[in-house]
Amino acid sequence: MKSTKNPIGVFDSGVGGLSVLRAIRALMPSENMVYVGDQGHVPYGPRPMGEIQKFSEGITRFLLEQNCKLIVVACNTASAAALTYLRGQFPDVSFVGMEPAVKPAAEITKTGKVGVLATPATFQGALYASVVERFGAGVELFQHTCPGLVGQIEKGELVTNDTRIILEDALLPMLEKNIDTVVLGCTHYPFVIPLIEQIVGGHVRVIDPAPSVARQAKRLLEAGGNLNQSSEMSEIRFFTSGDSDSMKSLLPLLLGMNADVESITWEEGRVTR
Ligand code: DGL
Repeated sequence: MKSTKNPIGVFDSGVGGLSVLRAIRALMPSENMVYVGDQGHVPYGPRPMGEIQKFSEGITRFLLEQNCKLIVVACNTASAAALTYLRGQFPDVSFVGMEPAVKPAAEITKTGKVGVLATPATFQGALYASVVERFGAGVELFQHTCPGLVGQIEKGELVTNDTRIILEDALLPMLEKNIDTVVLGCTHYPFVIPLIEQIVGGHVRVIDPAPSVARQAKRLLEAGGNLNQSSEMSEIRFFTSGDSDSMKSLLPLLLGMNADVESITWEEGRVTR
C-alpha cells in the first residue's frame, strides 16, 4: 500500500548519486530513502545507451520492490540514456532525472563562455542536445569528459594530485577561453568542488544541480500528496552491486554519516539481494 512513509529511491552507477541524496536529505529530512549504487558496473559513462537502459530498468524494478514512492535517477548518464525509456516502461511511476544545468549557466554567465563537465554518454545523448538547443543560444559551451575522474571519486580520492591533474587538464584550457561558469554534468563531480574552486579561482561560478533536483522531487511529492510530514527519525538504506565494505568506508567522507551497506547482485538482468 502506498504511504507517505514509503521511501524515495535514488540510484547511480556508484557513489555519485550521494551528492543528490545529500541535497534531498537537507531539504526533506523526514523522508526515508533507499540508495542503490551500481558499483559492479561503474562507470556508466563509456557504455552503450542500450546497456545503461537495461541496468536502469533492473534497478528501478528493485527500488519498486522496496516500495519506493518516487525514483530519482541521480545520474546524468543514466538520465541521458534511460529516462525516456524508464518513463515508457513504468508509466505509473514518478521519476526525477538530471540534465546538465545549461539553463542557469546561460542566465548567469557574463562572458558568455561556459564549461561543461560530463561523461561521454551524457554528451552523446538527445537530452544534452536538447538543453543546448533550448537554452544555449548566444553562449559558447566548452565540453570535457574528464577521463578517470569518476574512478578517482569512487576511490575517495577527492584532493589527491592525480585528481588535480585530471581536473586541470579539463579546466585550464577552458579558463584560457575566458569561461566564468562551470556546469557539473555528472553527480560524482560535486564531491570535488573544493579542488575545482582552487583551480578555477573565485571569479568562476560552479553549478551543482543537486539542490534544484531535490526541490523538483519535493514539488512532485507535494503535488501527489506524498510528502512525509512525520517527525520520526528517517531511515536511509544503502545497497551496492560492488564491494559493500568499500562503499561503507566512503560514507563518512561523502555524506558525513556512518551506515551499513547491503549487497545486491545481478542475475539475468534482475537485481536481487
Ligand atoms: N554519476 C554519473 C553521472 O552523473 C555517472 C558516472 C559514470 O558512471 O560514468 O553521470
